[in-house]
Amino acid sequence: MTDNTIVFKSEDLQDCAKGLRFPLPALGEFTTGFVVRFHGKPYAYVNQCAHVPVELDWNEGDFFTVQKDYLICSTHGAHYRPDNGFCVMGPCKGRSLKPIAVIEQNHEIIINLASLKDSLK
Ligand code: FES
Repeated sequence: MTDNTIVFKSEDLQDCAKGLRFPLPALGEFTTGFVVRFHGKPYAYVNQCAHVPVELDWNEGDFFTVQKDYLICSTHGAHYRPDNGFCVMGPCKGRSLKPIAVIEQNHEIIINLASLKDSLK
């Protein structure tokens, strides 16, 4: 792990199950990000709804709907596509979560925080 990367074990991220949260102090003392696995691939986002910047998860790490097909904001129910963060339903329909670059290699999930600068432009 460097200042710009966060690393998790691949085995700790199960498909369409609990996500893993991590701090994003560059965006504010209490700001977090999260990574989920969807149909085998990891996807990471800033943990802020595109409607009101509150955290999405209804219990810590619970980002998926009951059907496991979308990420859902626990506050007013916006639904986001897990694979690109696009809001398909809810008060921020048409907007998107802020993505964070993530790759998986050698049984590790590697989150690249340097990519955040681009996604926040
Ligand atoms: S704060 Fe997320 S849908 Fe309103």
